[in-house]
Amino acid sequence: MRAFPLAMLVLAASLCVAARPVRYAPLLEQIPAELAGSGDEVVVRNCSACHSLEYIVTQPRGKGAQFWRDSVTKMITVYKAPVDPAEADAVAAALTARFG
Ligand code: HEC
Repeated sequence: MRAFPLAMLVLAASLCVAARPVRYAPLLEQIPAELAGSGDEVVVRNCSACHSLEYIVTQPRGKGAQFWRDSVTKMITVYKAPVDPAEADAVAAALTARFG
């Protein structure tokens, strides 16, 4: 029975040696090619905080300006997206120009 505490001590000590600090580096998202043009910065700036920009570029095409205005409004009112009010129209316009 005396060996047991000693074994525990050795085990605990070895765990301490084995435990190294874990470092996490945030994944830097690649900006999708469709949103890498000039005029798209307003989208990247306002729309990348919560989900991938891929979420935006994989939406169906040709839905029209109202769809994009509604999407931006939904992000702001339902999900509380911190979109600069002065930029909301510009985001919708940029998305309409890109994706129709
Ligand atoms: C505050 C966090 C937040 C920000 C910022 C944000 N979104 Fe979203 N977005 C969400 C959530 C939550 C969902 C729903 C995810 C789900 O249902 O899986 C979503 C979903 C979407 C979808 C998928 C369709 C839908 O309506 O659910 C689109 C398109 C979209 N967001 C566009 C945008 C655009 C454009 C912007 C920039 C104006 C933006 N998002 C910024 C939180 C955010």
